[in-house]
Amino acid sequence: MKILVINGVNLNMLGVREPDLYGKKDYKTLVKEIKAHAKATGVKVKCVQSNCEGCIVGYIQRALGRYDGIVINPGAYTHTSVAILDALKAVQIPTVEVHLTDVDQREDYRKISYVSEYAFLRVTGKGFQGYFEALDALKKKVSK
Ligand code: DQA
Repeated sequence: MKILVINGVNLNMLGVREPDLYGKKDYKTLVKEIKAHAKATGVKVKCVQSNCEGCIVGYIQRALGRYDGIVINPGAYTHTSVAILDALKAVQIPTVEVHLTDVDQREDYRKISYVSEYAFLRVTGKGFQGYFEALDALKKKVSK
């Protein structure tokens, strides 16, 4: 089973950006921990990050026929990007939406998520643990 983990805009700034909200660990550490969890659970993962909306659309399109599942934290594009939603709907790959913070308890503009319309599961407010839970949920769903 192959899973693509997509992190969007500003997630490369983890450890530096608002550490009280997003924690002190950096993106490199996130990738290391995701890979370790995937290995322990027998899943293959590729982690990508981009600050560019069109690049994220490209990652999703190229996942067609190559990946069994997608974990996505689009960052702020969550709340704005119909293009990312449309790409997910186009490829029809089972997808879990992840947010480090509890977006529903933050500003009103973070309460809208386009990706949620497609994702079969949403994990919010659990920090790095959210990505591990997303991988586990995809493994369970895809191996059914
Ligand atoms: C985020 C929440 C978004 O509202 C924000 O723009 C981010 C990160 C999260 O992981 O909590 O960049 O997706």
